[in-house]
Amino acid sequence: MDAKSPPNNARNDLDRFRLRRFMEDLIDCGEVEVRDDRVDLADLATIMQGNAKALWFRNVGDEKMELVGNVVAGRNRLARAFEVEPRQVALEMQRRLRLKPEIINLGRADAPVQEVVLQGADSDLTKLPVHLQHAADGAPYMAALDYVIDPATGMTNSGYRRLMLRGPHEAGVDLNAPSDLRAIYMAASARGEKLPIAFVVGAHPIDLVSATMRVPVDELGLVSSLRGAPLPVVKCITSDIRVPADAEMVIEGYLDERGYSEKEGPYGEYLGYYGGVKMNPVFHVTAITHRHDALFLTTTISGNRMDLTDTSNLEALRCELNVWEALKPVVREPIAVYAPVASGGSMSVRVSLKQRYPGEARTALYTILGSVGVKNAFVVDPDIDIFSNEQMEWALGTRFQPDKDLIIVSGVRLSPLDPSLHGSPVGAKAGYDLTWPMQHAARWELSTPTPPTYAGEKFASIRAALEDGPKRFEALMAAVGSRDGREIVRELHRLRDKGLERDDQGRYFLKK
Ligand SMILES: Cc1cc2nc3c(=O)[nH]c(=O)nc-3n(C[C@H](O)[C@H](O)[C@H](O)COP(=O)(O)O)c2cc1C
Repeated sequence: MDAKSPPNNARNDLDRFRLRRFMEDLIDCGEVEVRDDRVDLADLATIMQGNAKALWFRNVGDEKMELVGNVVAGRNRLARAFEVEPRQVALEMQRRLRLKPEIINLGRADAPVQEVVLQGADSDLTKLPVHLQHAADGAPYMAALDYVIDPATGMTNSGYRRLMLRGPHEAGVDLNAPSDLRAIYMAASARGEKLPIAFVVGAHPIDLVSATMRVPVDELGLVSSLRGAPLPVVKCITSDIRVPADAEMVIEGYLDERGYSEKEGPYGEYLGYYGGVKMNPVFHVTAITHRHDALFLTTTISGNRMDLTDTSNLEALRCELNVWEALKPVVREPIAVYAPVASGGSMSVRVSLKQRYPGEARTALYTILGSVGVKNAFVVDPDIDIFSNEQMEWALGTRFQPDKDLIIVSGVRLSPLDPSLHGSPVGAKAGYDLTWPMQHAARWELSTPTPPTYAGEKFASIRAALEDGPKRFEALMAAVGSRDGREIVRELHRLRDKGLERDDQGRYFLKK
């Protein structure tokens, strides 16, 4: 990775990936509901739940802070962030991941995220608009992007993590799922060391997407690649961690050395149900830095409309990218990959592919089911639009025989938050082969309404057309230039006692 000093135009770029700019752009696209009235923290979650738009609250709580939510809770908005069509986002991410990252180190004076520095008593988490997200949550919690330096490699790791408030300068961090941060933290705690960490609150959607990925590279570079632009960074005030300098706010601090030491939760979780109370590490604040006009970002996690949560939409994109990557060496021609967000983002995955050899669809299914978080996988032929629930239902109803086309894989790890496991650490996955078996594909013609397509000779009469050879009704219409069809019914009726017959394909012909 290149580490450069700021070029002259670095300041201009500091606006390009600013969350506030992105939100302004979304307003122009009609994707935002702006609320200028005073809104209490207690009402934020219910206003956002099931709301198809992003929300921009301009007057929240006693501090009258600005808060945005549901920002990435829709594929349209993620597509806007990547400047592509909604169906192209995962493909565009694949393209960008190949771009060379570039990091630009800024000093504090040039870093908007350090315009305001709060330390000591002023770095107070309870002054931020952290709100109760779900009725039975243990306390208000926020989701933020964490950045740490892995002492083993010197590389920066980033993730998206939830922090449940424990006091003005303390929060629990949910670190139960397998993750790089969990491994880094457990190693630090085993050495009896604190782990410095910085949480970014309010960043461009691409930074959010980047944090959901788990790749063995320096993840500052990952942000740069996915942005497709140099990433301006600044060193934290109280640690050596570098964070995006164009973010809205950074909460600096450390995870203490005690390990999983305090009870936390429950949290409303990403599959729409509550998790249990668990032991988690404790985060201690050392500083809060932010822009003068910082925009606080809240992230929607759970509720009864998973398709309209930030988490499900981010998870779906992560999952699609993983599946694309896994299929590449296995399937010659994958056409499209889609993870329907309503299932939580990765529980179901649909893939369309062009089969090149018998068994390819099944091979694809096993590959998809190998991806973390995927429970049900569906493979279809290219004529099915996997982004359409209606087309998928049609394929399931008409191209699937449960005793032949279903694969069950048992005894595999699933998300422990899946209530259907009833507490078991392992469960089953299912693969649905909705493709035509290659040897039968030609037998089934799709019965779609199309204008007459007969491209042969034109005839003066139906009789002349039939004397030319067998034709189906549509071809007879086209052969005599009919734009109606009923006159052909009348003529065929007349021809019945003149030797009119039908062949096995339903074509009309005249017996010689
Ligand atoms: C909105 C959101 C919130 C998340 N919260 C948590 C969390 O609290 N704890 C956790 O372990 N993973 C959480 N995740 C998943 C991690 O961010 C994800 O697994 C990430 O890849 C972990 O990064 P790492 O392995 O580089 O540490 C969350 C994901 C999203 C999108």
